[in-house]
Amino acid sequence: MKHEHFEIDYHLVPFEELPEADRLLVEKAKEATYTSFSPYSHFRVGAALRMENGEVYLGSNQENASFTTGLCAERTAIFYATAKNPGAAVTDIAIAARGTDGEYTAEPTSPCGACRQVLAEIEHRAGRPMRLLLYSRTGIIVIESVGALLPLQFNGDNL
Ligand code: THU
Repeated sequence: MKHEHFEIDYHLVPFEELPEADRLLVEKAKEATYTSFSPYSHFRVGAALRMENGEVYLGSNQENASFTTGLCAERTAIFYATAKNPGAAVTDIAIAARGTDGEYTAEPTSPCGACRQVLAEIEHRAGRPMRLLLYSRTGIIVIESVGALLPLQFNGDNL
């Protein structure tokens, strides 16, 4: 029997120490929380992503009375962006959230499993890393590739 393991590298960076382009994307993700439709969870999530052509797209979580039909901020943003730019790579995605108290969260908001699957496949298809910027009031988690959050990922190559 052979033992293997996965490790995830990430940086925890104070907002002021982020490069300007990252700060801008994080600010956009924070702004996007204000377009969230979340009367059921009251958890407002915003996502902002940058494409390789420099264009920035925003999304927010969109809930529904039939709960399971709602969509997370990340997938709202990325499906819109890839529909507008078929074949183009997403280079960076920032995520921010405000909790039930209306304040930005003290802990970073990390993409759910379904979003990891979607983001990782789009990254894999593009053949270049998609950086993640996970915002919290105390610092931003920076991960250089979304694939790191989904080891042993299932993608089109497996079909
Ligand atoms: N949500 C997101 O939009 N993104 C995440 O990364 C985590 C969860 C949404 C789904 C639902 O509308 C609400 O947050 C509570 O789970």
